[in-house]
Amino acid sequence: ATIHDQKLLRGEGGELHQTAAGPTPVLTTAQGGPVSDDQNSLKIGARGPTVLEDFHFREKIFHFDHERIPERVVHARGYGAHGYFETYESLAKYTRADIFQRAGEKTPAFVRFSTVAGNKGSFDLARDVRGFAVKLYTQEGNWDIVGNNIPVFFIQDAIKFPDMVHAVKEEPDRAFPQAQSAHDNFWDFISLTPESMHMIMWVMSDRAIPRSFRFMEGFGVHTFRLLNAKDESTFVKFHWKPKLGLQSVAWNEAVKINGADPDFHRRDLWESIQAGNFPEWELQLQLFDQAFADSFDFDVLDATKLIPEEILPPIAVGRLVLDRMPDNFFAETEQVAFMTQNVPPGVDFSNDPLLQGRNFSYLDTQIKRLGSTNFTHIPINAPKCPFHHFQQDGHMAMRNPVGRANYQPNSWDEGPRESPSKGFRSFTEVEAGPKARLRSETFADHYSQARQFYISQDPVEQGHIAAALTFELSKVQTPVIRERIVSHLLNIDDGLARKVADGLGLKAMPNPADAAVPTRRDVAASDALSILKN
Ligand code: HEM
Repeated sequence: ATIHDQKLLRGEGGELHQTAAGPTPVLTTAQGGPVSDDQNSLKIGARGPTVLEDFHFREKIFHFDHERIPERVVHARGYGAHGYFETYESLAKYTRADIFQRAGEKTPAFVRFSTVAGNKGSFDLARDVRGFAVKLYTQEGNWDIVGNNIPVFFIQDAIKFPDMVHAVKEEPDRAFPQAQSAHDNFWDFISLTPESMHMIMWVMSDRAIPRSFRFMEGFGVHTFRLLNAKDESTFVKFHWKPKLGLQSVAWNEAVKINGADPDFHRRDLWESIQAGNFPEWELQLQLFDQAFADSFDFDVLDATKLIPEEILPPIAVGRLVLDRMPDNFFAETEQVAFMTQNVPPGVDFSNDPLLQGRNFSYLDTQIKRLGSTNFTHIPINAPKCPFHHFQQDGHMAMRNPVGRANYQPNSWDEGPRESPSKGFRSFTEVEAGPKARLRSETFADHYSQARQFYISQDPVEQGHIAAALTFELSKVQTPVIRERIVSHLLNIDDGLARKVADGLGLKAMPNPADAAVPTRRDVAASDALSILKN
């Protein structure tokens, strides 16, 4: 940008006025009215009261007063960038999604990275999960892969999400801690929720303090489906693999960086993209069929489990490059609305009860946060392909249907019509079962994959997990919560449990948590089934 010389005037009170001249345009109100003086409100006499008539002053302050919108209820702190996705080769065998039909096809993309628990002004290097949300502006509408940098999740059923988030965020009476998990409420909830133990191993590992967004993996977490032209289904898990590899910082580094530069991650992304060092990820898919799902040790609908890559190696199908920062943080990064239910024809959902719940939650939260059902009229959320529908009106409507017909069928030959061949079709899965609040017994093993993760780490990384657990739990004031966590750790790794117990100075080792007995919900579920059978 060039710095123009501007004409400077001095007002009667000595204040300086920069006035429009040469290439500098005339300042206007939001209504387009030219402004003569932006330094002084309209007064009766130089030392008299300000008059209500000053429409420029009132409009300026009114708009300022309304600048903030609600921050995201989770993932409030985030940073985004534009780029593109490039398809390596046709995947027509597996999916009819247009984005995967042609090798070399480039699809515009917007990605927002985030922390989960902290508020919008919190620091970047909190020990936390990182959001990795990708919006792909495909020729068949927007496809959002709303993922995290950890391949599993805390809970199995979306109905637990408000409890989990309440527990992880600041405690309601004292309003702290703002950005850390080291507190009683969080660990209380975790200690009473054994299904979270696998996720906890990841969150206590170095994965939760990445060096930069550029050195992070991303995961769609859930099992989805791909559907080909014949509507044949293949299960799929989505993984983003950073070309730069994985890197984290150590905890003592994270603490120092947070103090010195709370914007460390956003600064890193900004500077690398501005310098032309465009970060890149490969999209890799784990593809499997029903027979694999049936024979796998864990339920592929359980979001607290993953499919090890040694068992099912992912295949690379394209690359994501981020090469442009938004022009305006608020307009783009803050107003972008990701939603798991945004999938193109050829991609479909599984019955994962966490995913099913998310498919409701995101639409609902966007209306609340962005204030209008017309949030798709905001450029960052609008499709970049042709789109036609009869939705109209509402707050801030900018794209009402043109012409007489705002319904169909109509006799005016106006407006769009459905297309059975091109439109989205769901996989025709056959469903049957009792209508009841159930959790599958196939979801009951909460420790095996936590153990697999722990033993997959090298000794230094294992030491970091033990140190993180000891540090976090040392902040927990309630002894029984600490003991409960150690009782879960005993089901994961004896050595780990002992290190943490010693670090916390526990006088006696608690008994291992009950691992074999089905959870209360499982019992309720079998009760419900047996009632039906009788
Ligand atoms: C926001 C990921 C589970 C509700 C987000 C964001 C990500 C994400 C990345 C930030 C999007 C952005 O950058 O704007 C995940 C993952 C989950 C998960 C990977 C589990 C595998 C859930 C569940 C619910 C939920 C179970 C509710 C039932 C929300 C809400 C937001 C959000 C309400 C705020 C959205 C907004 O205001 O823009 N999630 N989430 N999430 N998530 Fe999730």
